[in-house]
Amino acid sequence: MAWDSSSFPEFNSDCSSLLRRYLSKQLFEQLQNKVTASGFTLAQAINSGVVNQDSNIGVYAGDAESYRLFDTLFEPIIFDYHGFSANDIHRSDLNQEHLSAPNPDPAGQFILSTRIRVGRNVADLPLGPAITREQRNLIESQVAASLRDLSGELAGTYYPLLGMDETVRNQLVADHFLFKAGDRFLDAAGLNRDWPEGRGIFHNREKTFLVWVNEEDQLRIISMQQGGDIEAVFSRLMTAVKEIEKSVAFMFDSRLGYLTSCPTNLGTAMRASVHIRLPQLATDMTAFKKITDAHQLQIRGIDGEHSESVSGIFDISNRRRLGVTEVECVQDMYNGVVALIKREKQLE
Ligand code: ADP
Ligand code: ARG
Repeated sequence: MAWDSSSFPEFNSDCSSLLRRYLSKQLFEQLQNKVTASGFTLAQAINSGVVNQDSNIGVYAGDAESYRLFDTLFEPIIFDYHGFSANDIHRSDLNQEHLSAPNPDPAGQFILSTRIRVGRNVADLPLGPAITREQRNLIESQVAASLRDLSGELAGTYYPLLGMDETVRNQLVADHFLFKAGDRFLDAAGLNRDWPEGRGIFHNREKTFLVWVNEEDQLRIISMQQGGDIEAVFSRLMTAVKEIEKSVAFMFDSRLGYLTSCPTNLGTAMRASVHIRLPQLATDMTAFKKITDAHQLQIRGIDGEHSESVSGIFDISNRRRLGVTEVECVQDMYNGVVALIKREKQLE
């Protein structure tokens, strides 16, 4: 759907995005003519949510300045999503010793795999929605060069998307290692410009440590493995993040934490998830959601966001990422998963 960005957008009656909730006509008119130093406008920030009326959120930032210039729109959305408030500040805890999350399923009956990722963007450059082709390509070459220096378990190879064999790419996506192509939410946010140039994936030989380059965020640093050893996955990720931070300066704000293109990822930018088989709970989604809501968890399908569950397998992850530490993000996921497994066993 194309829209005339000079006038207040129309929202469908069933549109329930945070954009629709917080963008009044008056606010639209106040912000309409503001432009950040990298040339990012309100129309660009809200395009994804206007074009995709089934958005949950509907806004993206083009740069660090977007969060300040358009704060009267971004802040209520951030507060609503994360349960964060104006007086809160971001807190970080990357110490793996502080996490207590022993494998909730040592027999391997429920948890298929565990994955934890953080988003990161490069300091002093625009975010993906406003970046230029040259800046994006520069990030790709600089990040690939830093990753080349990793050693031990983290050592691996960078594979650019440009020129990648389609069969190889499809297999990486199907195996849950690589991002999908053509996401319509990202597309409308300007995040798919010049695709596939500048994008790629780094991974170690075992594919337990991976870095996505120039997708929704400039880096998505990922640790994953089969089974439910959450502590091992977290520990590998924390080691990797600290290592990469030695050679790449990340965009960070003392109040909002790590800055990301989507406000849902601010703060820790962490999503800790398990793929978990819960066939009994799957038959009663109301009871299922009661548990996930109580633990502030999100339910996704088997192929990630905007996908469906298959054979009673779900992707369960922490929902809050700002105002909580990295350790707390994982703890949210862990506590909820323990509760889900307990309920599933009762229903068996
Ligand atoms: P993000 O995690 O970056 O928010 P997605 O929700 O699209 O993005 O997930 C990206 C990929 O990671 C998808 O293929 C998804 O199935 C996979 N994935 C997520 N969690 C797990 C997990 N615990 N085990 C295996 N694959 C996972
Ligand atoms: N823009 C999409 C929406 O509003 C996704 C939001 C959260 N997910 C993300 N990958 N940033 O529904």
